[in-house]
Amino acid sequence: MNNRKKISIIGSTGSIGTQALEVIDKLRDKFEIIALAAGSNVELLKLQAEKFRPKYIYAAKEINVEGIKTLNSLDEIASNKENDIILVACSGKVGLKPTLKAIENGINIALANKETLVMAGDIVMKKARENNVKIIPVDSEHCAIHQCIKNISQVDKLIITASGGPFLHKSAEEIKHATVKETLNHPRWNMGKKITVDSATLMNKGLEIIEAHHLFGFDYENIEVVIHPQSIVHSAIEYVDGSVIAQIGLPSMHIPIQYAITYPERFEGIKSKSFSFAEIARLDFEKPDFEKFPCIKLAYKAGKLGGTATACLNAANEEAVFAFLDRKIKVCMIYEIVRKMLDEHVLIKNPSIEEIFKVDSDVRRKTREYISSLNIK
Ligand SMILES: NC(=O)c1ccc[n+]([C@@H]2O[C@H](COP(=O)([O-])OP(=O)(O)OC[C@H]3O[C@@H](n4cnc5c(N)ncnc54)[C@H](OP(=O)(O)O)[C@@H]3O)[C@@H](O)[C@H]2O)c1
Repeated sequence: MNNRKKISIIGSTGSIGTQALEVIDKLRDKFEIIALAAGSNVELLKLQAEKFRPKYIYAAKEINVEGIKTLNSLDEIASNKENDIILVACSGKVGLKPTLKAIENGINIALANKETLVMAGDIVMKKARENNVKIIPVDSEHCAIHQCIKNISQVDKLIITASGGPFLHKSAEEIKHATVKETLNHPRWNMGKKITVDSATLMNKGLEIIEAHHLFGFDYENIEVVIHPQSIVHSAIEYVDGSVIAQIGLPSMHIPIQYAITYPERFEGIKSKSFSFAEIARLDFEKPDFEKFPCIKLAYKAGKLGGTATACLNAANEEAVFAFLDRKIKVCMIYEIVRKMLDEHVLIKNPSIEEIFKVDSDVRRKTREYISSLNIK
């Protein structure tokens, strides 16, 4: 009998996707790959397909691999009830539709794509509850919280750690003139470009606060951020009696990816070396500087507004990040651009999914127009 867990990966060629395949490579007897999907990196997808022999592949560009069926859409992957679990590891808004489709089909989700919950967390979590679908977080902070929580009703506060990114000890003036290369030079994590820029502005932490609010159902007042440059404590929870439980480990995305796709089981898998407190020797913590990193405050604001505010925040931020990566704006302008879009946003309190997608495309268009109007050479 085939007892292997049937999995598909959306975004298999990215940072999370390739590490997920490294995990699966170590656990070949535990997984059967149903589908691999990517955007434009068809060369890598071909290599992955030849190595792992999924039943199906999908790419946003044309792709053909002998003996493997090419699908026409991510929806086809998300509708395939052969899947026990789908790892949603694409970046940006692409993740939302297939996640919803998979939930409707009763398929569990290992969720790396935080934008899905930032855009439509209320709808996604409600649908997951209705369809009895598990959403297991891949983001290391949320994965840490997921591992710490036993009885959620006894938890008072979530404490999300942040490495602080490449600008932690830079002055506001230095950040103002930071190049794309300096911004992408993250001290701890090797990730896709979008999330790396978000980690430099700390918008990533803002998105994670919103993600945590939806995943664990906590009010924003009870979600705290602390800077922890070593990235050893991946996050913590405080119980009502003051006990704090933290999840600790070496900084490696293999561990939360493996946790999410093998949950509720645990295997040795890709574990590289044993943890030693003595070798780590010290752990530092400090309060975030909200003046230097105002994007966190902006995310709290959007989260508390609720409705379409977080979709607006996400869309404006993504467009501003792309403009920065295209060298059209400076990194310090991302905050101002997102703030302006949020200030001008006409909030829909309980939006439908169609309204969320409309807000997303309207805000993107408006953000691009605004950036063009700035006339920066
Ligand atoms: N990287 C991390 O350590 C990390 C940690 C926590 C959370 N996350 C979250 O995980 C998500 C992925 O991050 P990442 O760093 O892995 O990003 P990434 O390296 O940029 O990878 C993005 C993946 O999405 C694929 N993709 C893009 N457009 C697609 C489309 N239309 N259809 C199907 N696939 C498409 C890309 O394919 P091509 O490359 O072929 O275009 C690539 O495989 C993000 O939401 C991020 O916030 C990442």
